[in-house]
Amino acid sequence: MTAPVKLAVVYYSSTGTIAEIAREIGQAAEKAGAEVRLLKAAELAPQSAIDSNEAWAANQAATAGLAEAGPADIEWADAVVFGTPTRFGNVASQLKQFIDTLGGLWAEGKLADKVYSGFTSSATTHGGQESTLLALYNTIHHFGGLLVTPGYTDPSKFADGNPYGTSHVDAQGNNPVDDQTRTAAAVQAARVVRLAEALKKGSEA
Ligand SMILES: Cc1cc2nc3c(=O)[nH]c(=O)nc-3n(C[C@H](O)[C@H](O)[C@H](O)COP(=O)(O)O)c2cc1C
Repeated sequence: MTAPVKLAVVYYSSTGTIAEIAREIGQAAEKAGAEVRLLKAAELAPQSAIDSNEAWAANQAATAGLAEAGPADIEWADAVVFGTPTRFGNVASQLKQFIDTLGGLWAEGKLADKVYSGFTSSATTHGGQESTLLALYNTIHHFGGLLVTPGYTDPSKFADGNPYGTSHVDAQGNNPVDDQTRTAAAVQAARVVRLAEALKKGSEA
């Protein structure tokens, strides 16, 4: 019997939106049968910047007990789902910094042949969501990873409209993660687990 898919959800979040979607993805992946590690990227911002923003400080406190991602978590995983808020249409530097610690594993060929996917959020509608995911996905090609995106494989995707990955418009904290985004997260997580499972079975055969 094939062991459960090992799935790492690795995210960066300042003000909590991405942290909330990460939890949703993790729960949905567990429901789909995966063994899940929910992990945050290490913070790089000065504490004074965090303390000057109520939501940022609250998210830091709420996730204080969560482990920080390390390269060993990526080596462990069959599938990795990365989450980042958009930063001017790009990946947050904190997540990028974590990705940049993976050079050693890359050199050993240990990032290849895994399933990868991503999710994001922005303050404004569109706001750079697709460009952020595409920027993240550039890296996956360099890993030799297998990109699994939701596409329009579920009727709900015609409502949320983002085939690149789960995304949410948080209106700077005024629009909490809602049912549409939770559905997108569940659809994406189930698809990632299903295809990682198929890959795992295939490579064991
Ligand atoms: C430096 C910086 C750049 C940002 N750039 C954009 C942007 O280009 N478009 C946008 O809609 N939101 C932008 N945002 C807003 C965040 O991406 C958005 O609020 C996100 O949902 C926050 O996620 P979090 O709560 O997980 O930190 C930016 C925020 C910061 C701090």
